[in-house]
This record gives sequence, C-alpha cells and structure tokens, in this order.
Amino acid sequence: MGELLKGKNILIMGVRNKWSIAWGIARAAKEQGANLIFTYLGEREFQSLQKLTEDMAPIEAYPCDVSKDEDIESLFSAIKSKHGVLHGLVHAIAFAKAEDLRDTFVNTSRDGFLMAMDISVYSFIAVANKAQELMTEGGSIITLTYGGGSARVSPGYNVMGVAKSALEASVRYAAQELGGENIRVNAISSGPIKTMSAKGIQSFSDILSIVEEKAFLKRNITLQDLGGAAVYLLSDLSSGMTGETMYIDAGYNNMGV
Ligand SMILES: NC(=O)c1ccc[n+]([C@@H]2O[C@H](COP(=O)([O-])OP(=O)(O)OC[C@H]3O[C@@H](n4cnc5c(N)ncnc54)[C@H](O)[C@@H]3O)[C@@H](O)[C@H]2O)c1
Repeated sequence: MGELLKGKNILIMGVRNKWSIAWGIARAAKEQGANLIFTYLGEREFQSLQKLTEDMAPIEAYPCDVSKDEDIESLFSAIKSKHGVLHGLVHAIAFAKAEDLRDTFVNTSRDGFLMAMDISVYSFIAVANKAQELMTEGGSIITLTYGGGSARVSPGYNVMGVAKSALEASVRYAAQELGGENIRVNAISSGPIKTMSAKGIQSFSDILSIVEEKAFLKRNITLQDLGGAAVYLLSDLSSGMTGETMYIDAGYNNMGV
C-alpha cells in the first residue's frame, strides 16, 4: 500500500472484466489509497464489477452508456452530490462495429465511422467537460490509445486507428484549455494486451507474438505496467506533464523494422 492517491476521488470508466485495462488501473490506484468510483455498461458488466471488487465492497458504481448524454449528465450530477469534488478520471472506452474491423478500411460505412468516433472519441470530450466542473482542486484526466493504429498503420485496426488519432488530438486540445485550472490531460498509448475489445482485431495473437519478439523489453506489457503508468499520471508525481501521449509498450514503437 502506498499513499500517492490518498484522499483522491477517481472515476474509472471501462471495467468490463478482469482483463480490462481499466481494471488494472483501478487496482493500482486502489493500492495507492484512491477512493474509486466506477461506471458500467449494462447489468452483465455490473455483475462482473461486483465480483471483481468483492474485497473493496461496498463500491460506488453508476450505469453509463457514453453514447447517451442523459447518462453522462446523471453520472456527474450523482458524483457532484456525493463528493462535490473529483480529482481523477480514467476513460478506457472504445467501440467499433465488428464489420468495420474485418472489411477493408476504405469500405468503412458512414454509420460505423460515426459510431466509432462517437463512442471512442466524443465520449472522452463529453466526460472531460463534465469532469472539469468538479475538478475544483485541479485534476488529472487520462485516456487510452494505441500508437500502432493512430500514428502508424496496423492492417485491420482501420476506423479505430483514425479514432485514436482524433483521440490523441483531443487530448492536446483539452489539455491546452484546462491547463489554467491545473487540470492535466494525457493519454497512455498501450502496447497490445489481450482484452475483450482486442479480440475484435484481426490476427491479434500474431501482433502479440511480433511485439514479444521485437520490443526492446522482449515481452508484451501487463496490466501492472499500465496500472503503474496510470498512477504516475493520476498522482502529483506527473505534476508538470500534460497534453502528452505516453507510450507503455515495452519500447516497441521505437523499432524501425
Ligand atoms: N487491448 C489493447 O490491446 C489496447 C491497446 C491500446 C489501447 N487500448 C484501449 O484501451 C481501452 C480499454 O479497452 P480494453 O482493451 O481494456 O477492452 P475492454 O473490452 O476490457 O474495455 C472496453 C470498455 O469499453 C466499454 N464501452 C464500449 N462501448 C461503451 C459505451 N457505449 N458506453 C460505455 N462504455 C462502453 C465496454 O463496456 C468496456 O468496459 C480502449 O480505449 C482501447 O481502445 C486497448
């Protein structure tokens, strides 16, 4: 147990199950004394969250489908009435239609494009806006991106790569605007990690093998690696850092061929 996040109210969005990146971050934040607030999508995710957090019970959790303005509104008004102040926000949410991850990129449908951008990018802007109202003591907002798709091309990542580019740009814009209120905004660019969302990406196990072979650390990253990075970003240790995309990928993005 440490105290890096002691007394901080931190909202965690995107715990689906024990493999979720958001769960790795939640565990690490809890170990540093954070007071966690969760969101969930649907009853199944709520049950999974309850099981995962048995040793943290009772937990505070609110339903939130980020494609619905009213859900976002009621989430933040509930947090406002209960806590008044928020110190950290972890946005670990993305979605693209399965067919848009299977088909060729140029065949992306308008509907699929808008849905991927809405849930994976606009939701970040919407929750950052609501969070800043409650970050009256300063704060830290983080989101999750994938540099292999946003800064480079990963065949099959398709519309999600475009969404991640837009997400990283959104981080910079939000960081510039919120900096004056001592609210920092950063992205963690995670190496590939086996989660439910990753299952939708073609040849994902090949990607894991290539990274393991070529990454500087000769391994894939873990939820613990991501949890540690998130604690750094959420805590005062990173007080001078904002608008950045921080790579936690065992060094893979630095490889040429
Ligand atoms: N797994 C990887 O290899 C990897 C790599 C880099 C970045 N990321 C990013 O990490 C983040 C977390 O994904 P993960 O890999 O942990 O997968 P995950 O499937 O465990 O989590 C994704 C979460 O997004 C939520 N979500 C989807 N649509 C939603 C909606 N409309 N409203 C509210 N929540 C919604 C899901 O319910 C789930 O909790 C995503 O942004 C993902 O793109 C993942």
